[in-house]
Amino acid sequence: MKQSRVRRFRAGLVFIVLAGLAVAATCAPRLGAAGEPSAVTVLPWGPTPSAAFAYARATAIAAVGRALFNDPMLSASGRVACSTCHDPAHGFSAPNAMPVQIGGPELNRPGTRAVPGLTYAQFSPAFTEHFFESEDDGDESADQGPTGGLAWDGRVDRARDQARLPLLDPAEMANTDPAAVVAAVSRSASAGAIRSLYGGDVFLDPGRAFAAITEALEFYQQTPAEFSAFDSKYDAFLRGVAVLTEQERRGLALFDDPEKGNCARCHRSAATADGRPPLFTDFGYVALGAPRNRAIPANVERGYFDLGLCGPLRNDLADQKTYCGMFKTPSLRNVALKGSLFHNGVFHSLRDVVAFYAERDTNPAKWYPVGADGTVSKFDDLPAEFVANVNVEPPFGGHVGDQPALSGEDVDDIVAFLQTLTDGYMSGRKAATGSAASSQK
Ligand code: HEC
Ligand code: HEC
Repeated sequence: MKQSRVRRFRAGLVFIVLAGLAVAATCAPRLGAAGEPSAVTVLPWGPTPSAAFAYARATAIAAVGRALFNDPMLSASGRVACSTCHDPAHGFSAPNAMPVQIGGPELNRPGTRAVPGLTYAQFSPAFTEHFFESEDDGDESADQGPTGGLAWDGRVDRARDQARLPLLDPAEMANTDPAAVVAAVSRSASAGAIRSLYGGDVFLDPGRAFAAITEALEFYQQTPAEFSAFDSKYDAFLRGVAVLTEQERRGLALFDDPEKGNCARCHRSAATADGRPPLFTDFGYVALGAPRNRAIPANVERGYFDLGLCGPLRNDLADQKTYCGMFKTPSLRNVALKGSLFHNGVFHSLRDVVAFYAERDTNPAKWYPVGADGTVSKFDDLPAEFVANVNVEPPFGGHVGDQPALSGEDVDDIVAFLQTLTDGYMSGRKAATGSAASSQK
């Protein structure tokens, strides 16, 4: 029972083939009747022609998904595509350092959360309130608490269900209903490909057409080449084909050291027991007590709090007061390409984030508002009743004035290490900012 709750990570390519097989099983007869499979080539490693067909079909669907992802016609304004907020050059996070992005029919509605990067998001297991560790690291009986799902609060599991949210969110792509999306896509350059993949009459049934659109977006986001290349300098290092600099090596040691950074406790840095590369997240939920971001328009209202797992964007766990303030631990792969960090985008540089971890408790006046009388409003983005939910294990802890767990030099070393997590190192793909180029020796 407990074991069955453990969701295994999916290897992207294998999943595409399997997903393709499932789709082919339901659609092949219909397409066969239309004479479709004639275009199928049998791949050298393909066990059967039907597997090759499924693969070719999944690849074609992913290509449609790619076009849809980049198409602003999918929004009410005609000016916002998925890629407007999720820029491939920034690990599919925002192309700018604004804490939240602007959307809506008139392009004047700000969001309330920072845009997560989408690389490696496909590996998130489905959300569960009680996660039991797999055999990878030990104690199977320990309940790790809420784990998995998509978005900062895990309120959807599958990319196809997630796609509904931005398409219909009044502050994002702002379509009034799925039929509006379908109508726009039926007039787009992708319409022909969708008809040939899902049937010539697909647009006559908005429910079926919307499912096709969101499935295509999901297949695209599972494309290993763009979303999970595993070709950062750190991956090259793990495979023994690159050497970390002295500073990067020191940063890695501090990142892993339970008494120092202790980062790997949540942001896993070691390959799993069966040899899969690390994802730099355990998909768990933690309250870190990030400072309130006054640059988010919603925060002008003093009584408004984004409490993550317990609301307001997710509402099924609103009564679980011990979850208030918890957000999903993001993967740190490609984090150096992000302009805004943490769920509320309150930080804009890796150095600030790592220094916050080091000094939140030893120098809170540096991070939180200080009143005229010198009192620090620590944890100012949480109502007082939820402050007890905040994590106080290393690198946090200590008292005001204590020596922080990480020195200034340690912080620089960890930042140097984080910059080895940007994809494109091995393929030589050019990254938008920072790391990939500068970390090559
Ligand atoms: C206006 C900006 C904006 C647009 C447009 C947008 N997104 Fe997002 N996306 C966000 C924000 C903000 C979040 C975080 C939402 C949350 O936590 O509630 C997010 C979260 C996600 C996630 C979850 C990632 C994770 O790691 O958990 C996925 C997947 C995603 N978006 C895909 C898409 C797709 C597909 C489209 C187009 C159909 C799209 N987004 C359009 C801003 C945007
Ligand atoms: C107890 C679990 C935990 C530990 C330990 C931890 N983190 Fe995190 N990390 C999180 C969570 C949860 C978030 C998201 C918090 C939020 O948005 O409110 C996060 C966010 C981040 C981000 C921002 C990523 C983004 O996409 O916005 C960076 C960078 C980061 N952590 C680096 C580190 C480093 C470096 C260390 C060690 C010094 C560390 N973390 C230790 C759980 C942890």
